[in-house]
Amino acid sequence: MSGGDHYGGADVADRVLASLDPAQADRLAALDQFHVGGAAASRRLADRAGLREGLAVLDLGSGLGGLARLLAAAFGADVTGIDLTPGFCRIAQQLSVHAECNETTRFCAGDALALPFADNSFDAIWTEHVAMNIGDRDALYRELLRVTRPGGVLALYDVVAGPNVASLVYPVPWASDPANSHLIAANELRRVVTEAGWVERHFHDESAAAQNWLESARPPKGIDGPTLRDVMGPDFPRMIANLRENFAAGRLEAVQAVFDK
Ligand SMILES: C[S@@+](CC[C@H](N)C(=O)[O-])C[C@H]1O[C@@H](n2cnc3c(N)ncnc32)[C@H](O)[C@@H]1O
Repeated sequence: MSGGDHYGGADVADRVLASLDPAQADRLAALDQFHVGGAAASRRLADRAGLREGLAVLDLGSGLGGLARLLAAAFGADVTGIDLTPGFCRIAQQLSVHAECNETTRFCAGDALALPFADNSFDAIWTEHVAMNIGDRDALYRELLRVTRPGGVLALYDVVAGPNVASLVYPVPWASDPANSHLIAANELRRVVTEAGWVERHFHDESAAAQNWLESARPPKGIDGPTLRDVMGPDFPRMIANLRENFAAGRLEAVQAVFDK
């Protein structure tokens, strides 16, 4: 199964968009922030990266586009999102229309390993909770370097393998089984990114913050519109419960890091 299959059948965009109420544009977080820690975690990474107004950002694995909209609305970025799952790109584009930021965000379908962009296209590459689906990390970080202008930045927020990863319990939000999960340990991540040509600026263990959020986050109440459960299906609560348990048992950790080209 590819990452795209795991994340949604052909009808997912139609179902989600049909149940979307434009009046709820300011309450999209239960739907469009598809990573541990929600928008607050993304703001921490933006602060670490020193994200400034007017930068051209590539949001790699943009999902439903919440991160792209946050970077555009709160940090003044101009964001292009790319994602392997075409239905997610359709939802992301439509949510940006609802949220009135479709001039500063745009989304296209494509593979992180073969980006449809010229060399030196972006000031910053953003990627949160995507690399766990990508086996060839060396190719990934080289491809990201190619599309980044000299002096540009790579900001990443990933789940990584903890010391007890061998006993990881599935399903987790990025994979139903081991075939679709490509976790590496934090020190391996550091090595493969720098060997691809990036220069490390920050490397931060985000595990405690992730674990705290997972312990305290509860399914959203009082939201009439669609949530991530509508996107990922009835197994989603079990994926989140397993994620919480896997972090608590030292099978998973989380990292936020910033690298320069
Ligand atoms: C857990 S979601 C995270 C979405 C978004 N980054 C966020 O934080 O809200 C992972 C996303 O990565 C995308 N993805 C997986 N493999 C990919 C690849 N090779 N190229 C581009 N996107 C990919 C999936 O389609 C999915 O939308």
